[in-house]
Amino acid sequence: MRKPVIAGNWKLNKTIAEAKALTTELVAGLADVTDIEIIIAPVFTALSPVADLLKGSPLQLAAQNCYPQETGAFTGEVSPLMLKDAGCQAVIIGHSERRQLLKESNELINQKIKKTLAADLKVIFCIGETLEEREKDLTLDILTTQVKGGLLGLAPEQMTDVIIAYEPVWAIGTGRTASNEQAQEAHSFIRGLLLGLFDQATADACRILYGGSVKPANVDGLMAQDDIDGALVGGASLKAADFCRIVKFE
Ligand code: PGA
Repeated sequence: MRKPVIAGNWKLNKTIAEAKALTTELVAGLADVTDIEIIIAPVFTALSPVADLLKGSPLQLAAQNCYPQETGAFTGEVSPLMLKDAGCQAVIIGHSERRQLLKESNELINQKIKKTLAADLKVIFCIGETLEEREKDLTLDILTTQVKGGLLGLAPEQMTDVIIAYEPVWAIGTGRTASNEQAQEAHSFIRGLLLGLFDQATADACRILYGGSVKPANVDGLMAQDDIDGALVGGASLKAADFCRIVKFE
């Protein structure tokens, strides 16, 4: 019912030449996949060259961030319109590395989501608790605050272009994945939040991805969970063979 999404977050990796080489491998390895939505997110400088290579392929392109203004005196920033112009179909917003390192607030993330949707781009909206928050039993409170804050003021029909990524911060880049049960529990809670904020149809249709040390070895178990509709993959998305295997989960 929900089309799975596998997205690769390349983070701060790959020169333009390296990004093109990886893209060429992915396009060859995934050309026949039609039942999964595949998205890759290189660094800004590689977006346009990678977009050229993706023409005619089923892979979609995402940026890793944006600024919530169309144009103007915002030195160093990039707007959703510019990203669309560079060939993107989506933007990752609210990644925990940006929340932590760049102190992005739920309010800023909400503005970014609105501007990105207004530019007719999809959003991959990231949420997730830290280890400290989980140990203090605050996971559900944190998820509630992040979901409500990030999606504030959105109409149900706008949610068709929003993909949520649940990424427990303690599982990102640590090799420590949430168990299938821990992930399913969080995903089902998030879907319940969507039901409260919007309606049953919106909650049922929204794709919720899991992220945090997803690898070929654990993707199948995660994808077997009822409320896990895909993965946001960091480290393993940098290797063509690993990412292709993750896309072709069983
Ligand atoms: P990881 O990163 O797969 O390397 O843990 C996931 C992410 O941060 O999106």
